Amino acid sequence: MLSSSVDTTNVAGRRVGELCLDRGVIVSKRSRKMEDVIMAEKVTGYSATQIALHWAVVVLVTFQFLAHNAIEASWTSFVDGEPPPVGNTVLTYMHVTAGLLVLGLALCRLYLRISRGAPAPPHDEPQFLKLISEGVHGMIYLLLLALPSSGAVAWFMGVRPAAGIHGLLEKLLLFLIAAHIAGALFQHLVRRSDVMMRMFDPERSS
Ligand code: HEM
Ligand code: HEM
Repeated sequence: MLSSSVDTTNVAGRRVGELCLDRGVIVSKRSRKMEDVIMAEKVTGYSATQIALHWAVVVLVTFQFLAHNAIEASWTSFVDGEPPPVGNTVLTYMHVTAGLLVLGLALCRLYLRISRGAPAPPHDEPQFLKLISEGVHGMIYLLLLALPSSGAVAWFMGVRPAAGIHGLLEKLLLFLIAAHIAGALFQHLVRRSDVMMRMFDPERSS
């Protein structure tokens, strides 16, 4: 068999491409070797920072859902043209502060998601489950930006329809969080995968 090969590229000391001449046919092995390099660089788990940000947002969002009566009362007074209710100030400003913090942390999470990435789904994950989880995560990210933004537009600019949108988005987020938690428990209890534990354990691979 007539065969000869020529190195074409060297990345971090690794041979990633070569031209093979086999019975007069030139075959490029570049794409297969490149794939190996890219796979080697894929993250095997979430970083400690990504995990800390995830749980910090969970705590803040939970607080927003449990303690919203004060801001609702303050908002109603504003709409009715009455003075703000006495004794509500601290909780009202906590809603505003925690909400803006969620916005800031969600932006940090998105930055890390894009720059660092996320671990791949388990190799035996059915395609439809991958699509559902990607869709739910994407929509949660969108809502973590849109919900505080709509609240801020209502609160700081006095735009009343923005408060209505805030109320709708809040219900949608609640629904998605319920689906998200059900998905995490399904992975853990039914599929018995490592997916749930990787949001607790940095760099854990599944
Ligand atoms: C992720 C962040 C946030 C969540 C989960 C959240 C959640 C909620 C919830 C559950 C309500 C009660 C709505 C209802 O019962 O219809 C509410 C009301 C309200 N929130 Fe937020 N909020 C967030 C961020 C913010 C921010 C950043 C602001 C302002 C800067 C804000 C301003 C308001 C206002 C003005 C209301 C009263 C609206 C009304 O009663 O129609 N929220 N929020
Ligand atoms: C306020 C509630 C929550 C919000 C807003 C939220 C949001 C998110 C988002 C946006 C992601 C995608 C991360 C990424 O790949 O960039 C994620 C991943 C994840 N969350 Fe949550 N989450 C919440 C609650 C929970 C709870 C209670 C659990 C545990 C039961 C949980 C477990 C997980 C796990 C295991 C992942 C990783 C999934 C995977 O790698 O495929 N989350 N979460």
